[in-house]
Amino acid sequence: MPRKPPPPRRPSPSPSKHAHPGRWEGKAKPDWLSRALARAGVLPQDEAEDAIQAGRVTVNGKVVKHPLAPVPPGASLRLDGVPISLEAPTRVLAFHKPAELLTSTVGQHGVGTVYEVLLPQLPPELAGFTWHAVGRLDRGTTGLLLFTNDDKLVTHVTSPETHLTKRYVATVFSEADEAKVEPLRHGVQLEDGPARPAKVRLRDSHTVEVTVTEGRNHQVKRMLGAVGLPVRALHREAVGGVELDVPEGTFRLLTDTEISEGLRFALPSARVTTS
Ligand code: URA
Repeated sequence: MPRKPPPPRRPSPSPSKHAHPGRWEGKAKPDWLSRALARAGVLPQDEAEDAIQAGRVTVNGKVVKHPLAPVPPGASLRLDGVPISLEAPTRVLAFHKPAELLTSTVGQHGVGTVYEVLLPQLPPELAGFTWHAVGRLDRGTTGLLLFTNDDKLVTHVTSPETHLTKRYVATVFSEADEAKVEPLRHGVQLEDGPARPAKVRLRDSHTVEVTVTEGRNHQVKRMLGAVGLPVRALHREAVGGVELDVPEGTFRLLTDTEISEGLRFALPSARVTTS
């Protein structure tokens, strides 16, 4: 059955163009009803819109049929009479991105997206959230791509100010040696400004491990290109202390400890319970 188109106007854009939107921001900032339900993982946004329009959702005891209705701070909500909480826990998925997928919600000219591979695999307890890709990997790049329901975590992990490491392994066309890669350790000049000094290790003459703490567009390829080592293939092995450890095309849920220690993201202490 074709899906009903979403309401025509939404009050503000989602925080990232590579994202399905994130979590309830707290009591100071009202959200609109369908998005609040989706952020909290109650229902995906299109299903939340249907449920609202069908009169299944009440706000402070009254049926609200408009998906864009604001949710007052502290409101009490029910779906089919069952109380629901808008407090969503921060969840992070470690996905092993295959090549030839776009980190985008929309495909292009027959090229699929990471969402098309990830979302159908999610169990019911994760399927209701809306998921942000944490940064992006190029279409041809493989490896660790994180997804989260928390837009603050996206900002934290992708901000250069956080200095969280991202470790890549590049296969290069030309022969690499210490003299060639040395400038990367001091910060090569790129067209949008100097790259920060990177940690670089030669694994063999065509395989270079590069660890960076920023994530500009095509950054690793541009850095290696700048020292005469064009990249044939690129793979991300780790983000912060989180190592890729799932087969290609699959995902796993990170523990709270991995989020708080591996990604250095502060969770409310009461919730740091799993390990
Ligand atoms: N750097 C790149 O050049 N490409 C990626 O996909 C990620 C980092």
